[in-house]
Amino acid sequence: MGSIFEAGSLTQDQRDSGAGKQKPEGLRSYGRRKGHRLSPRKEKLMETRLPELRLDLSGPAPDPSALFPGNPEEAWLEIGFGAGEHLIWQAEHHPQIGLIGCEPFMNGVASLLGHAERIGLTNIRVHDDDARDVLAWLPDASIARVFVLFPDPWPKKRHAKRRLIRRSTVAEIVRVLKPGGEFRLGSDSAEYLARTLLTARKFEELEWLAERPSDWRERPEDWPETRYEKKAKAAGRVCGYLRFRRGPQAGTTS
Ligand SMILES: C[S@@+](CC[C@H](N)C(=O)[O-])C[C@H]1O[C@@H](n2cnc3c(N)ncnc32)[C@H](O)[C@@H]1O
Repeated sequence: MGSIFEAGSLTQDQRDSGAGKQKPEGLRSYGRRKGHRLSPRKEKLMETRLPELRLDLSGPAPDPSALFPGNPEEAWLEIGFGAGEHLIWQAEHHPQIGLIGCEPFMNGVASLLGHAERIGLTNIRVHDDDARDVLAWLPDASIARVFVLFPDPWPKKRHAKRRLIRRSTVAEIVRVLKPGGEFRLGSDSAEYLARTLLTARKFEELEWLAERPSDWRERPEDWPETRYEKKAKAAGRVCGYLRFRRGPQAGTTS
């Protein structure tokens, strides 16, 4: 598919982007970390299963495939998996892939663990905190897909700095993506989608995989509906689905 982005001239922007640094603004991009009380079964999973699946970011990151049993072909990363439906679907449909999920909302993490246990999935790992810590930890060109599905929109102007998708986060996503890898973002906010496109445009490595309106108006078949998306549609909001391919250029974001 052809790129609608022009290459070149933005290297300084990228240099200013903060690629490779820790969370630059230090502001939380998420809301609450705890909701209703967990069921005894989920409490138990949080005590027993989470420590087994949790990433240890205290040392240097290995090749992400080494984080999973059986050295899967590729590792994919989901940022803000919510209750985990999409991550579980991908892990179940792609047993040859290792899925890393990041989510600071404990009830969401517990829900993911519950699904994973029920299905008997072994190809998932979890960071129950800010995904930007994982992005900063991961080696360059180590992840084949990054999913950001319905990030908190933070629509009020005074909260704009909390939005996850900003130049520094996209710079990190570009850095960790393998050449040919894919970055997917869904949102029910036209403004968020437009901002994401404008931000992505600053990275010559990213090619927007859209040739016609249906390419971003319709969800691809291998992209299951999330809980948030279902709610957004029930409330009458229109959703958009962006897919970007990371081109073969290397090391131009730092
Ligand atoms: C609107 S919800 C969408 C959840 C899910 N992706 C869905 O579509 O149903 C956004 C989620 O992103 C999570 N989130 C926000 N900032 C995050 C961050 N820096 N790292 C990881 N998750 C984050 C929030 O906790 C929340 O669960």
